[in-house]
Amino acid sequence: MKKIILSALVASVTLIAADSAAVYKSGLLLPANGAAIYKKNCALCHGEKGEKIAFEGSIAIAGMDKVKHAKELKDYRYGSINKYGYGAQMKGKLVDLSWDEIDAVAEYVQGLK
Ligand code: HEC
Repeated sequence: MKKIILSALVASVTLIAADSAAVYKSGLLLPANGAAIYKKNCALCHGEKGEKIAFEGSIAIAGMDKVKHAKELKDYRYGSINKYGYGAQMKGKLVDLSWDEIDAVAEYVQGLK
């Protein structure tokens, strides 16, 4: 019994080690930079300070609650919301972002005035 437990333990440690070698390339452990992501992926349509409306009828996103915003962005990413018929434009900017990056950008936008 002890032997089985021991070999299972060794196997799982080996798996974890192999996994981290594959996933954690240098640089990927840096925290998501909400400001940089916003400037690169959002500012063009929503303004440097979240002050612009993407088009007539939508809201200016500056100061938006980060929890509500992150949920909405994840929904756009999945294509499960399309408030005004232009959701595809949002999805295109979000598909390459991770959950952490989306949370970071939502936090950044909450701090904009
Ligand atoms: C190519 C222009 C464009 C870019 C870039 C863009 N958006 Fe949008 N955004 C839009 C459009 C158009 C809508 C309206 C979508 C719809 O029809 O639901 C929208 C809607 C939104 C909404 C909902 C606004 C409302 O009126 O309720 C939020 C929040 C938002 N965008 C945040 C972001 C964030 C954060 C980013 C960067 C990750 C981003 N957007 C990038 C064009 C853009």
